[in-house]
Amino acid sequence: MYPATVADWRALAQRRLPRFLFDYVAGGAGDEATLAANLADFAAIRLRQRVLVDVSQVDTRSQLAGQACALPLALAPVGLAGMMARRGEAQAARAALAAGVPFTLSTVGICPLAEVVAATGHAPWFQLYMLRDRGAVRALLDAAWAGGCRTLVFTVDLPLPGMRWRDVRNGMAASGARAALLRARHVLARPGWVGDVVIGGRPLSFGNLHQQVPGGRDLNAFKTWIDAQFDPGVTWRDIEWLRGQWQGRLLLKGILEVDDARTAVASGADGIVVSNHGGRQLDAAPASITALPAIARAVGSQTEVLMDGGVRSGVDIFKALALGARGVLIGRPWVWALAAQGQAGVTQLLAHWQRELLLTMTLAGVTRIADINPSHLITPQEHP
Ligand code: FNR
Repeated sequence: MYPATVADWRALAQRRLPRFLFDYVAGGAGDEATLAANLADFAAIRLRQRVLVDVSQVDTRSQLAGQACALPLALAPVGLAGMMARRGEAQAARAALAAGVPFTLSTVGICPLAEVVAATGHAPWFQLYMLRDRGAVRALLDAAWAGGCRTLVFTVDLPLPGMRWRDVRNGMAASGARAALLRARHVLARPGWVGDVVIGGRPLSFGNLHQQVPGGRDLNAFKTWIDAQFDPGVTWRDIEWLRGQWQGRLLLKGILEVDDARTAVASGADGIVVSNHGGRQLDAAPASITALPAIARAVGSQTEVLMDGGVRSGVDIFKALALGARGVLIGRPWVWALAAQGQAGVTQLLAHWQRELLLTMTLAGVTRIADINPSHLITPQEHP
């Protein structure tokens, strides 16, 4: 099969990955209601088809965080991506560069920043959480800046990790022999993955945290350190502190409320990402695409509003832009394509989406990204 849709990439990833890793990526918090809403709310949106407009020159180019992009999309930060394919972040960053879109490196990625920069000759966007150890935060910011990063994606919706039942079932959070045995069973069922990642993809540690966890030998040591570093005491005052520490662009990721969006702008953020962390945090939070319009109306003229959660096609990118986003981030789609076919998979996915966005613009009668607006949407009153 030649994979075409995200569902195809997901199915291939499921055949390739050990079950606990597939579930870690695919799953969400609680009953996965928000995860499902992210998709369902996109699917419910209808667009106007327009005809006999001159669409001989359609241009998907755009700018995100001051950076020219071939289409208004960036790869979202995904922890442990390097467990899904050998040196996964480096492979995905190469695909993103070739496609002309930004790649975001997670704090808890496997490849260190220097490896991603060496693989692409280009600094990615860097994602960070607030850590209890502010010295570590400073050191990570300095390392990101020294590595050439100029856009910081600061994630604010994770004072604590969400309740992800799939991970509990798979013993992800548990230590001890029983959990290890369960995971070993999942691993032994996927020899192709073992060869690619476990044998060919070493070292499997959190590459950006080596300085912070000097004794860290394996993923468990890092995990223990990170678990102790979640800081539920973080407030907007810390964002003001952060603003003073980072001279580059600052995007706050994980905003779902208009009031928070306004405060983000007042705190000096250059942009926000309307996000519910892919339905992995507060189950029962609204779909990002549903939260987006009010936020875009409130702050869209003052700051750059991006969104993520449930974007699964070029049509969805168009819908997000029509509802007020400047651009989108994608998480699971690129990770599934990476798990299935490495860099080539991510390249194929992005090529399909660019083509699909261009076609959507063509059929909606729009030739420039900046011209996509709410007039392209059919309202629920017209189309109940
Ligand atoms: C994430 N996400 C995430 N976000 C972040 O800021 N730092 C991180 O390390 C991670 N890690 C992570 C791991 C996995 C497996 C997933 C699926 C997601 C959230 C991510 O950046 C993004 O917000 C969502 O994935 C967007 O939703 P979709 O595109 O997956 O529906």
